Amino acid sequence: MHIQKKAHSSLNLAKNDSFDTPEKKVTHTHSHNQESNQKQSIQVDVTNYNHPPNISKLIPVSKIYSAYKLLKNVVTRTPTQKSMKLSEYFGANVYIKREDLQIVRSYKLRGAYNKIISIPENERHRTIFCASAGNHAQGVAYVCNLMKINCIIYMPTNTPSIKFNAVKSWGKQYVQIELVGDTFDESFRASREKCNTENGIYVHAFDDEKIIEGQGTIAVEVLEDINEDQVDFMFFPVGGGGCGAGISSYFKQVSPQTILIGVEPEGSPSMYEAIKQQQIVELETINTFVDGAAIKKSGAKPFDILNSVLKEVVLIPEGHVCTTMMKLFNEEGILVEPAGALAISALDKFKDQIKGKTVVCLISGSNNDLGRMTDIRMLSEIHQGLQYYMFVNFFQKPGALKQFLIQCLGPTDEVTNLEYTRKNNREKGPALVGVKVKKPQDFEAMKNKMEELKITHRILQPNQEIFKMLL
Ligand SMILES: Cc1ncc(COP(=O)(O)O)c(C=O)c1O
Repeated sequence: MHIQKKAHSSLNLAKNDSFDTPEKKVTHTHSHNQESNQKQSIQVDVTNYNHPPNISKLIPVSKIYSAYKLLKNVVTRTPTQKSMKLSEYFGANVYIKREDLQIVRSYKLRGAYNKIISIPENERHRTIFCASAGNHAQGVAYVCNLMKINCIIYMPTNTPSIKFNAVKSWGKQYVQIELVGDTFDESFRASREKCNTENGIYVHAFDDEKIIEGQGTIAVEVLEDINEDQVDFMFFPVGGGGCGAGISSYFKQVSPQTILIGVEPEGSPSMYEAIKQQQIVELETINTFVDGAAIKKSGAKPFDILNSVLKEVVLIPEGHVCTTMMKLFNEEGILVEPAGALAISALDKFKDQIKGKTVVCLISGSNNDLGRMTDIRMLSEIHQGLQYYMFVNFFQKPGALKQFLIQCLGPTDEVTNLEYTRKNNREKGPALVGVKVKKPQDFEAMKNKMEELKITHRILQPNQEIFKMLL
């Protein structure tokens, strides 16, 4: 096995299995994100952090390296690029691993190929089943077409059309698509049942060692390609946890000094909750906006691995993800999907710790529907305090609306939405008002003015049910 870089030599890989688990306890630190004071980051006590954790739980390096060799001629070797903008902004060496440039526009091809190629030839007449939020589906469809195996893929009904169409075009006549349920988890249950009754072969999106090995090849490439002595921090997105489990397994054994940070959407914190409660939990409801990583229940194997190696699970509000997406596009010309922006979104929270350090962020995918851009922009502006939706209680008398518009709005404030019906037999009535401001302080001025005029209001939050009417 050829492994580069100084850091790699620090561990005798052949003897890995006998390392002890460092003592671990779950503590809490306050999250720095503004939208969610109720949620905190989970921190694992890392007294023994530089020592390998429970190695027996990790995927052996030899297996990830075998997957890497197997995948060499199948996947694109995506670049690990230094981002000048992010490096300058954070005063660090910030690298981005560009899996947005992967063949199916996400890293998912890696795991799918590594799994499907492991199916014995005499079993390949059986139909492959899987469930996916859209990216694993593309990986499976691509490989099934390559290997001429039939597959039936279940996806949620709200799968972005770009993903649905891509699955069809990669899988050609070998793929059949079933749209079932509102979330990945519902599609998953339906696909599992059908697979059992049809005696199919199941290719799980994340809870499978072969899948995890394949995703782990990202780490092999990062450590081979990076132009620094060591990687101090590795940030990656977490959905079911397969990608993080593969990357962590490799890093923890080959570059044990690297601090590993998993990043989840705030609206679907399944791994966060699992680590907090020290067992897998099924969330009742989730926000599916970050569709690639919106999962109600983490994978068992990924949980075992991430629970033993992660320094921290960071939750990122959906609006923050949107701001990162907008910035990446405007400043670097990189178009990513929401899950693809998670890892970079976490950098703000670590800005003090990463100063002067070498940091790698995985951009995991770029299957973004341009049709979602209006929502992405709106959520980003709300997150930045530049756009608001609120119920405003107007006095039901002639001139009340005019008074609001003339006296409360500043010269550069804009009304983006106004739904108002004048009622005759009431003293006050609510109107739905959307406003955009140039800077957050302008909204403060607007609020002060409303208070002065005794116009009460209630600001709507993007996680409220009523907000769905606006998106
Ligand atoms: C683009 C993208 N990023 C991140 C994830 C999360 O990966 P995992 O489920 O392996 O944690 C996914 C999963 O589908 C994805 O498609």
